[in-house]
This record gives sequence, C-alpha cells and structure tokens, in this order.
Amino acid sequence: MKRLAWLTDIHLDFLQLESIQEFCYAALEADPDVFLIGGDISIAPMLHTHLRIIEHYWKRPVYFVLGNHDYYRGSIDGLRRELPAFLQEHDNLKWLPLEGVVELSPDVALIGHGLWADGRLGAGSASQILLNDYALIEELTGLGQKELFKRLYALGDRAVAEFEPLLRRALAEYKHVYALVHVPPFQESAWYNHHISDEQYLPHFACHAVGEMIRDVMRDYSEKRLTILCGHTHGAGESRIADNIFVKTGGARYGHPKVQEILVVDERQDP
Ligand SMILES: [Fe+2]
Ligand SMILES: [Fe+2]
Repeated sequence: MKRLAWLTDIHLDFLQLESIQEFCYAALEADPDVFLIGGDISIAPMLHTHLRIIEHYWKRPVYFVLGNHDYYRGSIDGLRRELPAFLQEHDNLKWLPLEGVVELSPDVALIGHGLWADGRLGAGSASQILLNDYALIEELTGLGQKELFKRLYALGDRAVAEFEPLLRRALAEYKHVYALVHVPPFQESAWYNHHISDEQYLPHFACHAVGEMIRDVMRDYSEKRLTILCGHTHGAGESRIADNIFVKTGGARYGHPKVQEILVVDERQDP
C-alpha cells in the first residue's frame, strides 16, 4: 500500500520562511510515502530555493509538475532547459514528465505534465482577461492578442506532443493511471467558486488540445482507468468526463498551502 499526499498551487513565494516550515511540518502529519505537487510551486527566481526547502523537510520522493507561475520572472524554455541539471543533485525531487512512467504498484502508474491553458475554449481570443502570465513570462510578453493566442495554441499542441506518448505507454502496461497536471484538460474540470469558469476565463483555465487527445486515447483503452489531478483555477471540484476518465481539481488560497487529499494505492483493491 502506498499513500500519496497530493498538493497543488502552493505558491510558496507568498510565504515567509517560518510559514513555509510550518506548512512542511503540517504536510508531514499524514506521513505519506510520496508527495505529488501539481504546479504553481513558486516563481522562477525562487523555485530552486523552495524545492530545496521542501526536500530538506520531507525527506521522501516529491513528484512535481510546473505551473504557469513557476515561470514568472523567467522563461519557459530557459527553466525547462536548466532544471534537469539542478535535479541531478537532488534525488528526492522528481520532475514529471522527465521521470517518464512511474510505477506505484504492479497495476497503477503515475505520469505528469504541467500542460498549458491553450486559449481555445470559451471566448477564445475574444477574451478580455489578461493573466499576469502575459506580463511576467518571457515568451508571452509584449505580444498583440493574435500573436499571444498563437503562442498559447502552440503551447497546448506541444503539451499534446509531449504528454500523449507517456499516456499511451502507461496505459499499455498499467490498469489504472494517475496523471498529475497543472491546468485542467477539460472545460468540465475548470472549477471556480463552485461553478465552471465563465467564457472569459475558460481560454486561460483549460488545455483543450490535451483534453481532446485524452478523450481519444481513453476510447482506445476502454478497459483502463485514468484519474487526473489538476489545479490552476484554485477552485475545488470533481468531474467525470467518461466512464474511464475522472478528474479532481484542487482548491487553493494564496498564502495558505495545504494537502488536498491523501490518495491510497492498494495493490489488492486497485483497480
Ligand atoms: Fe495557482
Ligand atoms: Fe496556475
């Protein structure tokens, strides 16, 4: 039996060191075997420091993906390029998708990817919402609306290209797959304040391209099961997308990081 502590959107850059320590101790109370963090851990200039602190206190494997905030005051390509060298020195810090398919039990695997809100749902490029992403992430700044949305579409397509092979590999071998992601892949999973996000926010709150890919792939594997753990919207909720696709969206408040849930992988009962 394995106990997984799932967290998302912990935004440690909002906390003083003392509060980060308190958070780390509180998260250890349930004594999980591994931690899963679904992105928005920090911001680019502080990410290494915050990951080091987490590793120091938790002393067990931490599987994580990156969220949009993790690239703030940095660049997407830059961070993705330099992170592997940093992680080589930190055995318990495990970045998905770099880790590939992780076996949790003979029947259950873990995969992950941060994904990206790809601008395609809701009002699309007619959305009036301007996330801080578009001022604080190098690749997304200084662009007109049309150019910005072209970049968002490309980030969604890149997520498909990187994530689909992992999903297929995991499903070929395991009966139940957990996918740790940051951005909800479906409109139905983009919870905000107990409702699905509105037309204006949806382009920035879901990764449509990956959602479509997942629906297609799961049709090929009707006897297998996918549980998606996402965040980003900060609104908690659950959604059943198909008989074999279930999504949990984590709730979050800036300055109040917490464990969303302890998930139990039991070899005898799962799936
Ligand atoms: Fe967040
Ligand atoms: Fe986010």
